[in-house]
Amino acid sequence: MSSVQQLSVPHVLGIKYLATSDVELILETAKEFKEVINRPIKKVPSLRDVTIANLFFENSTRTRISFELAEKRLGADVVNFSAASSSVKKGETLLDTVNNILSMKVDMVVMRHPAPGAHHFLSQNIDANIVNAGDGTHEHPTQALLDAFSMQEAVGGSLRGKKVCIFGDITHSRVALSNIYCLQKLGAHVRVCGPPTLIPKHIGALGADVSYDVDDSLAWCDIANVLRIQLERQEMKYFPSLREYSRYFSITMDRLNKLDKEIVIMHPGPINRGVEISSAVADSEHSIILQQVENGVAVRMAVLYLLAVRK
Ligand code: CP
Repeated sequence: MSSVQQLSVPHVLGIKYLATSDVELILETAKEFKEVINRPIKKVPSLRDVTIANLFFENSTRTRISFELAEKRLGADVVNFSAASSSVKKGETLLDTVNNILSMKVDMVVMRHPAPGAHHFLSQNIDANIVNAGDGTHEHPTQALLDAFSMQEAVGGSLRGKKVCIFGDITHSRVALSNIYCLQKLGAHVRVCGPPTLIPKHIGALGADVSYDVDDSLAWCDIANVLRIQLERQEMKYFPSLREYSRYFSITMDRLNKLDKEIVIMHPGPINRGVEISSAVADSEHSIILQQVENGVAVRMAVLYLLAVRK
């Protein structure tokens, strides 16, 4: 790789803890890796002799596969761990689990964990580089980075001055928080829109606008990032029914057709079709949902590479 710059941090725990220059460096490096993975030979030996453990204590499809592909395309040795089929079920602690894996000479840990802050705890107790692949409702930094990369591609350059609205279940979303931090570092204006019960009271303190009006927010934004209703994290009812949520807050073609402009539609997945977004919108020409997934591999290659070469 041509890059000589370095990340300012040894771990990617959250976008909050990255400098703007780190975010920019990751996105620039990802462009180079996107070119690599579109070649007939998609692999480079940049992480040969580096061993990475993917530790997933929560379900995942996109993130887990994307990290594994990124690691293999960089030539790393990869081990995968799923809590559901591990000795965690016999009562082993997080620290014991990770230390046992690290004793097998693992250099980097990619982890998804349901507890916010689990990665911070690990970073204070182990030597390996840590990448947060999602910690509860806190942060999902590589999702925000791949979202920003995909947005830059969609608008053909900088996000400075662009208007991005994040729709849906903001309260339970780690993607929302990471997106807010990331987009603000890149100079975009950010709004969140959803029912009042699904927008945290203090989100305005982060500098994001708040709206409860979907049509007004669609008219305001250049890019709509639609989030999943996370029923599995909702211990009480935040809205009367999925049908009512869909009626008032779903992003539909009827709503898009009323706009006097075209906007970019995004969703981090998994999608609840017909709830937060209609199938027609998710599969429309406005949607870059599958490009987001494609870009995830290049962005994660960039993150892993930049951590590995950091001195
Ligand atoms: N976007 C995302 O994190 O998807 P997975 O839960 O499938 O990894």
